[in-house]
Amino acid sequence: MTADALSPSVTPLLEMQDISKSFSGVSVLRHVNFTVYPSEIVCLLGENGAGKSTLMKILAGVHTEYQGQIKWDGEAIKFGSTYDAAAHGIGIVFQEFNLCPNLSVAENLFLGREIRNKFGLIDYPEMRRRAQQTFSRLGVVIDSDMLVRQLTVAPQQMIEIAKALGGGNTRLLIMDEPTAPLAGAEIEHLFALMNELKSRGVSIVFISHKLNEVLRMTDRVICLKDGENSGEVFTKDTSEDGLVSMMVGRELDRLYSRRSGHATDEVVLEVKNLSGPPRIHDVSFQVRRGEIVGLAGLQGAGRTELARLIIGAEKKTAGTILLHGQPVNIRHPVDAVRNHIGYVSEDRKKFGLILNMSVRENTTMTIHRQILNRLGLISAAKENAVTDLYVSKLKTKIASREQAIKNLSGGNQQKVVIAKWLAIKPDVLILDEPTRGIDVGAKAEVHKIIADLADAGVAVIMISSELPEVLHVADRILVMHEGRLTADIPREQASEEVLMKAAVA
Ligand SMILES: Nc1ncnc2c1ncn2[C@@H]1O[C@H](COP(=O)(O)OP(=O)(O)OP(=O)(O)O)[C@@H](O)[C@H]1O
Ligand SMILES: [Mg+2]
Repeated sequence: MTADALSPSVTPLLEMQDISKSFSGVSVLRHVNFTVYPSEIVCLLGENGAGKSTLMKILAGVHTEYQGQIKWDGEAIKFGSTYDAAAHGIGIVFQEFNLCPNLSVAENLFLGREIRNKFGLIDYPEMRRRAQQTFSRLGVVIDSDMLVRQLTVAPQQMIEIAKALGGGNTRLLIMDEPTAPLAGAEIEHLFALMNELKSRGVSIVFISHKLNEVLRMTDRVICLKDGENSGEVFTKDTSEDGLVSMMVGRELDRLYSRRSGHATDEVVLEVKNLSGPPRIHDVSFQVRRGEIVGLAGLQGAGRTELARLIIGAEKKTAGTILLHGQPVNIRHPVDAVRNHIGYVSEDRKKFGLILNMSVRENTTMTIHRQILNRLGLISAAKENAVTDLYVSKLKTKIASREQAIKNLSGGNQQKVVIAKWLAIKPDVLILDEPTRGIDVGAKAEVHKIIADLADAGVAVIMISSELPEVLHVADRILVMHEGRLTADIPREQASEEVLMKAAVA
């Protein structure tokens, strides 16, 4: 029985019927139907590249070329732009950030709909005041005068949400992986907000690869697979396993069997009394060859800052970094690469990828020196071989090596970031939220890749806000709180409670 059959009396808020879409001849959506009722939270589910974001971009007026019909409130309609969709009450939080880094928070919030005073000038004090009002409603503290580029991903995401709620007449809020950059308390705030909006009659489309969130927050699930409808169910009638089999079309072994191999005694990376104001204070730890060290902590604990100090992206004020027992001078990320230290950034758009370049160029940009031919030019054959190797290793879904990164789905972009750092053949690899935005199947693949790297002798540091992931993957877990290390726990003694305690202490 379909969900529609169960609620025949209510007029849907939104009906997308028989939607098909292709990009330069490549079919991405085929005859997709998608219905949302008033006051309902619908999950749009599907593997990386299934077509979720594309379907939502059609709805929000980003893609205006498509086949099929959209009915809004029972009326056939075609949105010509995101502004047009917004005027009809459709707000969207895109999967990728769309903020202008060099504008202030308030300026971003009111971009394109600036508030003007009676002289027709932009009324900054009023914009600031309304921005603060919006943020306090969302339960977050953000200084609206800060430039967006000074913020980390979590507050940026809250700005996106505030922006999508815009003028306050939103009837359908689309959130494409809104929780990916958020942690604990922020996610709870967001969920509370979702429930509040729903109780006020707003409908929400929620996209997430975190199945526990889907089960907890949504009323109904509509699933896509390879651009087609592959199932629909009331959330209360399904389970994690049910969702997974709808997504992948079969039962899935989601946990790789944990490797038996253990870390050696050989210390590869040693960080001694590292400080970098304003956040990192006197951090010391070691990582051994073949060891996976998890780095846990709450958002803002300083994990990313610590990683950026180690790779020379921020300036340290004190402390030493030793590789294989020798102090090394890392003043710039290039020095880190030269020393075979890789860093998979949490913010792939800002630091990880060059969006207009191809999959091939992004994969090989860190290893140009290694792939020269006899004439000293970059060898196309080697470039292609390296790209193909990692595309197949990571099962990245691409149309061709020459496809621009910006046209890959979010999860597949993430796989290219990982590929780029695997290509430098790192001795030390720091992965910052490596499975963010990655679907359940691919997540197990990434965990397996991390384990294989460790088995091959790499010293791995994995930063993750998902405690189950840290507990599952790491051999040893470091916990940070307010820029300091507060615990160093072997896997056998670790549990979610133990980690949480150290994260708040
Ligand atoms: N502008 C574009 N040009 C060419 N191909 C595109 C474009 N946008 C998306 N695609 C392709 O369409 C397919 C669906 O992508 P989409 O972003 O909708 O997936 P998704 O379900 O949102 O995946 P994820 O969970 O990884 O975010 C992918 O194969 C992607 O490469
Ligand atoms: Mg997407």
